[in-house]
Amino acid sequence: MGTISRDKKYFIKTWGCQMNVHDSEKIAGVLSLLGYNAVDNEKEADLIIFNTCCVREHAEVKVYGNLGRLRKLKEQKDDLILAVCGCMTQQKEVAQHIAKRYPFVDIVFGTNQVHKLAELIANAKLTGETIVDIEEDEEGKIIEGVPVSRGDGIKAWVAIMHGCNNFCSYCIVPYVRGRERSRKKEHILDEIERLAQEGYKEVTLLGQNVNSYGKGLEEEISFASLLREVDKVRGIERIRFMTSHPKDLSDDLIYAIRDCSNVCEHIHLPFQAGSNNVLRRMNRKYTKERYIELIERIKENIPGISITTDIIVGFPGESEEDFLHTLDVVEKVRFDSAFTFLYSKRRGTPAERMEDQVPQEVKHERLKRLLDLTERITAENNSALRGKTVEVLVEGVSKTHPNRLTGRTRTNKIVHFEGDTGLTGKLVNVRITDPQSWSLFGEVTDEKAES
Ligand code: SAH
Ligand code: SF4
Ligand code: F3S
Repeated sequence: MGTISRDKKYFIKTWGCQMNVHDSEKIAGVLSLLGYNAVDNEKEADLIIFNTCCVREHAEVKVYGNLGRLRKLKEQKDDLILAVCGCMTQQKEVAQHIAKRYPFVDIVFGTNQVHKLAELIANAKLTGETIVDIEEDEEGKIIEGVPVSRGDGIKAWVAIMHGCNNFCSYCIVPYVRGRERSRKKEHILDEIERLAQEGYKEVTLLGQNVNSYGKGLEEEISFASLLREVDKVRGIERIRFMTSHPKDLSDDLIYAIRDCSNVCEHIHLPFQAGSNNVLRRMNRKYTKERYIELIERIKENIPGISITTDIIVGFPGESEEDFLHTLDVVEKVRFDSAFTFLYSKRRGTPAERMEDQVPQEVKHERLKRLLDLTERITAENNSALRGKTVEVLVEGVSKTHPNRLTGRTRTNKIVHFEGDTGLTGKLVNVRITDPQSWSLFGEVTDEKAES
């Protein structure tokens, strides 16, 4: 790819999960190769890219709201290029809708076209028409070697697999991200070794369901054995991963987390709902009892492990009694934090056609009760850390408290403390003096960290 633009500026806005954020880093990598520089203001940009999410209706509504606003910018600046990509446009009818209703958008592309960006930009310039290029072939093979332009030089996302085969009945991700496919171990390890050489301290291994890593690869390899290999990369001090599906979290993986000194004591393990009835209709393939038993096994084997989760409220047919099972799981597991969502009907998913959709006000009322509980437990778990010393990877000056530094514990909790900016990128021990609900405050200490 040669340079097709000099001194051109681009602006990317990203919605959605870490995988999407990571895709934007690839888009940035390709654009920088093409001679574009990043700006953080739409008005200065020659190219504006929206990388979208469609996991809930709300995500799509926000994108449409932002799209409308761009019409004006385009009118003011004729050679401005507008591109919309990501999960939302991977739905054929949405891609067509955008091309038709927002004709000032120049390029609409899906989740597998990042490497073709130069061609798409050139075509849009040449034809002056909206170019639509989305993957319709479900195979979506993995393209290696796409440059990645990462943020802070400390923490890096590394995709280890793409797509999802689980087809939870509420979820659109398998339709927009295609079939599950794993990257080869050598590619992953090469990337992480390069990150270590560049000075990165932490990697987060990304996939919709990392526990099924390796299926379909020629080499016989499990996620647990991949973790053990990544643990050997010198220079990387922390390894995280997400997301895990409870149905195939093996004992071997629990032992790998326990044994690998760089793998952090944190598992994000969405349970979605507590009622076995609801879980069955969600196609989650585990029961409440199995989930709780799994958590017990994890806690027994990995002292100090932090467990976080995702929960959906108001899945079709969810009764008050079903919902009480969700609260019961929260009480029993005592999550360090929980992301809670109102069920949102998604096009083409089996749950879209289920009867007994729960009325909006019932969903809201349940969500409120759930939040009261999860927030109380998060605060209680945090306050148990008062006086304890924890290891923090320093990320820099705190955005919310500019006279302090900020970083995270191995358990992924945010810590603010006073210190020299020179500590950025280093591991320091911090004694927690003031645990709050959303973050912890503390002071640097020479004491040994307990976790
Ligand atoms: N692959 C990951 C998460 C993908 S989406 C996993 O399986 O854990 C992130 C979260 O969004 C899900 O865990 C779920 O809680 C939520 N979610 C997905 N589809 C949803 C929908 N239709 N309505 C509400 N929440 C949804
Ligand atoms: Fe969606 Fe389920 Fe796949 Fe997660 S595992 S992406 S919730 S279908
Ligand atoms: Fe992520 Fe949203 Fe796509 S959650 S996978 S960006 S639909």
